[in-house]
Amino acid sequence: MLDIVILAAGKGTRMKSSLPKVLHPIAGKPMLAHVLNTARQLGSDNINIVIGHHAELVEQQFTATDVNFVLQAEQLGTGHAVQQALGHLRAGAIALILYGDVPLTSASTLSDLAGKVSDTSMGLLTVQLNNPTGYGRIVRDDKGDVTAIVEQKDATPEQLAISEGNSGMLAVAVNDLQRWLPNLANNNAQKEYYLTDIIAMAKAEGKQITTVTTSTEEEVLGVNDRLQQAQLERFYQRCQAEQLLKNGATIIDPLRFDCRGELTVGQDVVIDVNAVFEGKVALGDGVSIGPNCVIKNATIGDNVAIAANSIIEDSVVEQGCQIGPFARLRPGTELKTNAKVGNFVETKKAIVGVGSKINHLSYVGDAVLGDNVNIGAGTITCNYDGANKFKTEIKNGAFVGSNTALVAPVCVGENATIGAGSTIVKNIDDGQLSVARGKQRNIDNWQRPVKQKK
Ligand code: UD1
Ligand code: MG
Repeated sequence: MLDIVILAAGKGTRMKSSLPKVLHPIAGKPMLAHVLNTARQLGSDNINIVIGHHAELVEQQFTATDVNFVLQAEQLGTGHAVQQALGHLRAGAIALILYGDVPLTSASTLSDLAGKVSDTSMGLLTVQLNNPTGYGRIVRDDKGDVTAIVEQKDATPEQLAISEGNSGMLAVAVNDLQRWLPNLANNNAQKEYYLTDIIAMAKAEGKQITTVTTSTEEEVLGVNDRLQQAQLERFYQRCQAEQLLKNGATIIDPLRFDCRGELTVGQDVVIDVNAVFEGKVALGDGVSIGPNCVIKNATIGDNVAIAANSIIEDSVVEQGCQIGPFARLRPGTELKTNAKVGNFVETKKAIVGVGSKINHLSYVGDAVLGDNVNIGAGTITCNYDGANKFKTEIKNGAFVGSNTALVAPVCVGENATIGAGSTIVKNIDDGQLSVARGKQRNIDNWQRPVKQKK
């Protein structure tokens, strides 16, 4: 049995924010959500979150059947925080202590850590640090066994020189915790009940403290301020980019790549700089994405080319389509095979048929376009009368001349043609030509006004 306690009661003063620290995001997701995800991956059915500052805001966002909230009204130290959760921990279980502001520890590291707990031992997650300032130091005896953790503020100069730091995360038998936590005292520099003091208690009972050490510092890095948040964000994004590169994608500059969600890629995908992916995005084989694109909750088919500065949201794009530069596909857009949506075109709730083209400067919303439709530059579907929205239908092979206004509801028949500059308010039958604009008059010998001489 694995019982998890996530400490998340702290104030996060250095974030200088009205938002509780653990709700600040890494890759678009609250830090606490990352920790909770990892906890769930470990298969625990007893997850306890210790909340304090802004308790209601945290509880609101994370209420779930497998999560139990424990209020720590006053933050009297990490040991005190775990004490609050003690009543929810099960005799015979292993307790794993995690932190809501340490978002990137891997499930495999933590499962290693939990594996170190037995009747005679507990597990401690430590890290080798270039600069251990601020961390509790791991004190070992001459046999190399851990004997205590000493907090920065309580350490002697010799102890401050130790480069092995305490991550704060540990795994311990609940039975042992029940015996040790009530004995914590706060006679230290910070007048806090330190969870770390249980190490010396374990040692005094002759238990083995077994350490697990992570390979990267970032895995145990906590966020105290926005600088550390930004550092972890970049680390996380670099890891994601590296994973995609290993899976065969080309990322022109892995340092200018951001995925705030789940991205899957086919073969021979090329992603240029400053692409941002959000939500669930799937890219097929041979997809190319130009610079500065934002793609959110979208499925992009094979061999689609998305040129620079395009924005796609809640849309489905079939194979062979060409998009952008500067295209905006809003929610509900479906581009069928080989469709083209060019520069300064906005679509919304629009189905664009096979091989159809909207190449320049158009708005197409609440519309269904058949196959091989050609929409001229500057065409607008007038879908909104100020109160209601109406649909435009344009059937296979229709040709809509430039600068046409289609006042919905309206239907343009198969292979119909619309002359440029028309305002279409009535349906057009199959094969008809419709011209709806002022007739051109040419006047001979026209005299332009001349400037009066003073
Ligand atoms: C703690 C460890 C230190 C370790 C460091 C790693 C102790 C005594 N020290 O120090 O050895 O190197 O983390 O970052 O454990 N919290 C509560 N309630 C409280 C106090 C803290 O929920 O009463 C939460 C905080 O929100 C924070 C975490 O526990 O997420 C750590 O608390 P913090 O005060 O930052 O501990 P450190 O002094 O950094
Ligand atoms: Mg801290």
